[in-house]
Amino acid sequence: MKVLKVLVALLLFAAVGTVAFVIYAWHGALDRIDPPDPRSFTSEEIRRGADLAAIGNCNVCHTAPGGRIFAGGLGLLTPFGTIYSTNITPDPETGIGRWSEAAFRRAMRQGVDRAGRHLYPAFPYDHFTLVSDEDDRALYAFLMTREPVSARAPKNALPFPLNIRLAIAGWKLLFFKQGPYRPQTGQNEAWNRGAYLVEGLGHCGGCHTPRNFLGAEKKRQRFAGGEAEGWTAYALDASSPAPVAWDGEALFAYLRRGWHEAHGAARGPMAPVVSNLGAVAESDVRAIAGYIAAVMGEPSPQRQRQSKALLARVEKGQGSVTSGTADSQATTGSTAPVSAGDNGARIYASACASCHESGRPLPFGGIDLSLSTGPSGPTPTNVLNVVLFGLPAQEGERSPIMPAFGGMLDDRQLASLLAFVRARFSDKGEWSGIEKHVRDARSGGRDIAIRPMPGSERAPAGNKQRVAPW
Ligand code: HEC
Ligand code: HEC
Ligand code: HEC
Repeated sequence: MKVLKVLVALLLFAAVGTVAFVIYAWHGALDRIDPPDPRSFTSEEIRRGADLAAIGNCNVCHTAPGGRIFAGGLGLLTPFGTIYSTNITPDPETGIGRWSEAAFRRAMRQGVDRAGRHLYPAFPYDHFTLVSDEDDRALYAFLMTREPVSARAPKNALPFPLNIRLAIAGWKLLFFKQGPYRPQTGQNEAWNRGAYLVEGLGHCGGCHTPRNFLGAEKKRQRFAGGEAEGWTAYALDASSPAPVAWDGEALFAYLRRGWHEAHGAARGPMAPVVSNLGAVAESDVRAIAGYIAAVMGEPSPQRQRQSKALLARVEKGQGSVTSGTADSQATTGSTAPVSAGDNGARIYASACASCHESGRPLPFGGIDLSLSTGPSGPTPTNVLNVVLFGLPAQEGERSPIMPAFGGMLDDRQLASLLAFVRARFSDKGEWSGIEKHVRDARSGGRDIAIRPMPGSERAPAGNKQRVAPW
């Protein structure tokens, strides 16, 4: 009898649970509309929408290589399979031309498309949910006044059961918290604006926060560093590996112009982010920089001293931590004898020093590498990507230029160069598995498209490390 009771109770429980889940997971279709008249939007709304779209990087994910802007079709490689971005131009058949503003807002706020199907969080609605109604309207106005492009995204390549969109409802139940953003009363307006943009449209945590095995950001390790497309997205919290502590001004310069003299250039998937931020209202970039500076926190007196000392050494042309002063000897600790032998040192002296230690101005002069976060980062990937693929020139700009060394150095030489760069230009212990990183970064190297556009450098396609930001 007792067993039966328990069984009935369990069944009831399961049934109620299922019904509750279905109610939670089910969304109806919203009516199709006739594409709205572009004149129904004010030019002010459209202009604001353009800024917001830039902060949200809609162009980065919704444009395929060589394809039309916003027409979708870019394949995002996730650990689970490939998910293609969709066409968000106002084309009535293949785009969002028949989506009402309410349907668009529902996609942004809840990750549900017009027909009521759950969207994959490769579309970062776990952040976009924070966007206000007013800003969603401006984004809608901007997108609905773009040129319609007829283009259909390829079918996603996902294994069962991830190819079933209902499974996403389970993911949402576990990890998704719906917005919009609520200003924090204890903080001032600039902080709240920064938080709103960074946590919301900017989705900075999409790359800079580590993810769990289901691809959700680990809330407790917010901004502790993540990865994107075969690059390391450094920690932006107190554990930032930057040799010189960041401050609000440096962050602003880096985010606005893609370069700062005490930190270097933004590359890889960060390049399109700063390229977009170069074009939006300055006050918003300042708010973003200020908020990130607050997340990092005031550097400790010791870190401030170290930063000052390093800058002073670089000024005197002896930046590297092994260049001889008692102070710097102390910081290198046990890593002082370079395990790779002289080979890495010789390669550096002949191939790199002419630019990185010459004090040459941009575009050819690179910063002293002891200032770069690369050699101090948790993995060799970013330095490796820069050395393998270089930094292409950008049209019409005095942007940094560095040649690609992928064809000149073999794997063994690259590995010893990296070991040397780590030992000489950071005060951290050896990187592990350098050889494997080199092999991974190389495989598929032929597919890499280095185009003279900011943001188009990506780690090689087919590279196992290249995963979308989730
Ligand atoms: C990190 C990549 C990424 C970024 C950034 C991004 N999207 Fe997307 N978006 C996607 C992917 C992938 C999908 C398809 C998801 C799916 O099929 O479930 C998508 C889907 C959508 C959809 C649903 C369209 C449909 O037909 O179902 C809308 C609307 C949308 N995105 C708008 C935007 C806007 C507006 C922005 C900028 C504020 C933006 N996206 C930025 C990756 C991105
Ligand atoms: C698509 C992934 C991606 C997104 C989104 C992204 N970042 Fe980054 N970010 C990176 C990567 C990768 C790097 C490392 C770039 C390099 O090595 O040059 C980086 C580097 C940085 C750095 C330099 C850190 C250091 O110590 O050198 C800062 C600061 C930064 N990002 C801030 C932001 C902010 C603020 C946002 C949101 C507005 C943002 N990022 C959004 C991927 C991303
Ligand atoms: C023709 C000049 C030139 C040569 C040669 C060169 N670089 Fe660079 N390098 C640059 C420029 C310019 C930049 C971008 C500006 C900056 O960030 O310093 C850069 C950036 C870098 C960065 C990223 C720094 C940062 O955080 O922004 C690393 C790491 C790097 N180079 C390593 C090397 C190594 C290792 C070699 C030798 C194999 C090398 N470079 C050879 C010019 C050069």
